[in-house]
Amino acid sequence: MSAPMNQAELKSFHSHLSQSKRVLALLGAGLSASSGLPTFRGAGGLWRTHDSISLATPDAFEEDPGLPNPAHYALAELARKMPGFMTLSQNVDGLSQRANHPPEQLQLLHGTLFELKCSNEYSDYRGSNEDCDYRETNFTDPVVPALAIPTGGMDPTSDEAREEVSKQLQAQAGGNDLDISDANVPIPSLTAVDLPHCPKCKTNLLRPGVVWFGEALPRDVLDTVDDFLEARKEDGRPERIDLIMVIGTSAQVTPAASYIDFARAKGARVCVVNMDTNDAPSSGWREGDWLFQGDAAVLVPELLKPVTGDVTPKV
Ligand code: OAD
Repeated sequence: MSAPMNQAELKSFHSHLSQSKRVLALLGAGLSASSGLPTFRGAGGLWRTHDSISLATPDAFEEDPGLPNPAHYALAELARKMPGFMTLSQNVDGLSQRANHPPEQLQLLHGTLFELKCSNEYSDYRGSNEDCDYRETNFTDPVVPALAIPTGGMDPTSDEAREEVSKQLQAQAGGNDLDISDANVPIPSLTAVDLPHCPKCKTNLLRPGVVWFGEALPRDVLDTVDDFLEARKEDGRPERIDLIMVIGTSAQVTPAASYIDFARAKGARVCVVNMDTNDAPSSGWREGDWLFQGDAAVLVPELLKPVTGDVTPKV
């Protein structure tokens, strides 16, 4: 639940947004919390309570766009209304894309679960032609049969199959929810032969197109964000950034979190939307910052209303 918004703060934010031309949003897992996806650092961890079958199939993608919440739609609308708006998302859940966020205004800092790429370890670092650069968009769930959870021949996207899978998992877990992150929970062992291989180099395994700990962020994404930050006017003077909205992120993971300070250095005021008032920007609060405490799905559409109008999800 969200506390009532402070009307004076809301008015002051609305007034600033209405005059803003170059705006960034830094998104984190809290944006999708209302869509049923647990955050990384909150109770539960990612993907534990949400059946990934309901997210990761082409049919689900086409037929059930209900998962993005009003904040995803509002941000997508802001992008359409404000050409100088750029979203930097740490989320790999594909919900901004489902809400039709214009792709050129959506930088996926940590990649997406809906892409597979060659596991060639150098492919992101060197970009040399000798390295395999294979990538594909892939909504198939499971990505290979060996990773399937048995559904007794039922359509895995059907409600019956979801119930069946959930029953089987509960039975395996002795009546409790099965937590496959628990090392004591037995899961079938797989060999490399069972896993998807790169169709281009025919050597390496395919892997999810997300950024793992210790890996560099995608070069093209970093370059695009740098271009936004370092943009110059026709007369050569640096463009300022009016605002950065920091939505549903603990802002602890760099380099993503450092964009808050880069934006500040370009003149941006900071607006934080978070359930937890302790999740401040790492450099602390400054005069002129806004903090709106509560559910991003409720607050973001209200905050963006002067530019986006009422955004009703198209379902
Ligand atoms: P975290 O789990 O660290 O933080 C989620 C934030 O969302 C917290 O500050 C919560 O207080 C807040 N929050 C929770 N529910 C909310 C709601 N309904 N409305 C608004 N705020 C809410 O997740 P991230 O900051 O996204 O990286 O984590 C950043 C990165 O850490 C992830 O992208 C991931 C992880 O390691 C990679 O996978 C590379």
